[in-house]
Amino acid sequence: MEILIRRSPEEVATTAADIISTHLKPGAVLGLATGSTPLATYQELIRRTKEGEISFAGTTAFCLDEYIGLPPEHDQSYHYVIRNEFTKHIDINDAYVHSPDGMNPRPWEAAEQYEKAIVSAGGIDIQLLGIGTNGHVGFNEPATSLRSLTRVETLHSQTVSDNSRFFDSVDDVPRYAITQGLGTILRSGQALLIATGKGKAQAIASLVEGPVTSQCPASVLQLHNNATVIVDEDAAFLLKESDYYRHVEEARPDWKGLDGRPKL
Ligand code: F6R
Repeated sequence: MEILIRRSPEEVATTAADIISTHLKPGAVLGLATGSTPLATYQELIRRTKEGEISFAGTTAFCLDEYIGLPPEHDQSYHYVIRNEFTKHIDINDAYVHSPDGMNPRPWEAAEQYEKAIVSAGGIDIQLLGIGTNGHVGFNEPATSLRSLTRVETLHSQTVSDNSRFFDSVDDVPRYAITQGLGTILRSGQALLIATGKGKAQAIASLVEGPVTSQCPASVLQLHNNATVIVDEDAAFLLKESDYYRHVEEARPDWKGLDGRPKL
C-alpha cells in the first residue's frame, strides 16, 4: 500500500483527483463511492472538466453500493446522489453510470447481475473508496468474507447511526444495502481510499497497521496489489509509521506513476 499524508482535506481531494485523472481515457471503468468524503474530490474533478483539463468522455462508472428500498429518484439513493453531486456535472454519458438495483424485489439477483456487469465491462480500473468509522468499505461491515462479491448486506447499527445525518430521522435509514464485495474491490486495478478528520483515525490505523481481519473490512486493502490511501493529518494521527510513509513518498522513484505502475 502507498500511504499519502496531506495537510488538509483540500489537499487530499487534489491528490485523489490527480490519481483519478491518470486513468481517464475512453473505455476506462471508474468505481465511485458516495458519502461526504469524496465530495471535495468530485468538486475538483468537475472543475477540471469544466476548464477542459480532463474529460470523462467514453468512460463507464459503477457505484460501490446502493440502499435497498430507496427508489432511484429518492434524494438519498446513491443513484440520485452520484448524479447530483458528480456525474451530471461532467461529460460522462449518463447511460454508462451504473448502480445496483435497490428496488429489485429479488435483491440477491440484482447483486449477482451487478457483479456480472462489472466483469462484462472489463473490471474496474480505479475504485474510489471512503471508510466508515467502524472500518467498513462500501457497505462491507465487520465479519464480511474477505473474498465476498457483490451482495446484500445488513447495515451495522454504527453505520445506520452515522448515516442518519442524511435522513430526517434514524428510522428512515434503510437497514439493508447491495454492496460490491471485498473480493470485488480486490479485483480493481487500483484501489484509492480517502479519509479525513479525527473521526476516521482509528479506522485508518486499523486499516494500515492492524492485522488483516474482517473485523476491519478495509484492512483487506493490505491484500490489494495496488492500493493507495490518502489521509489528512487528522485521519493520520494514530499511524505509528507516518514518518516512514512520508519518506516513501519523498523518495518515490521517478519511474513510478501516480497510478502505482511504472510510467511507460
Ligand atoms: C459510500 C460507501 C461508504 C462510505 C463510508 C464513509 O458509497 O460505500 O463506505 O464511503 O461510510 O462515508 P463518509 O465519507 O460520509 O464518512
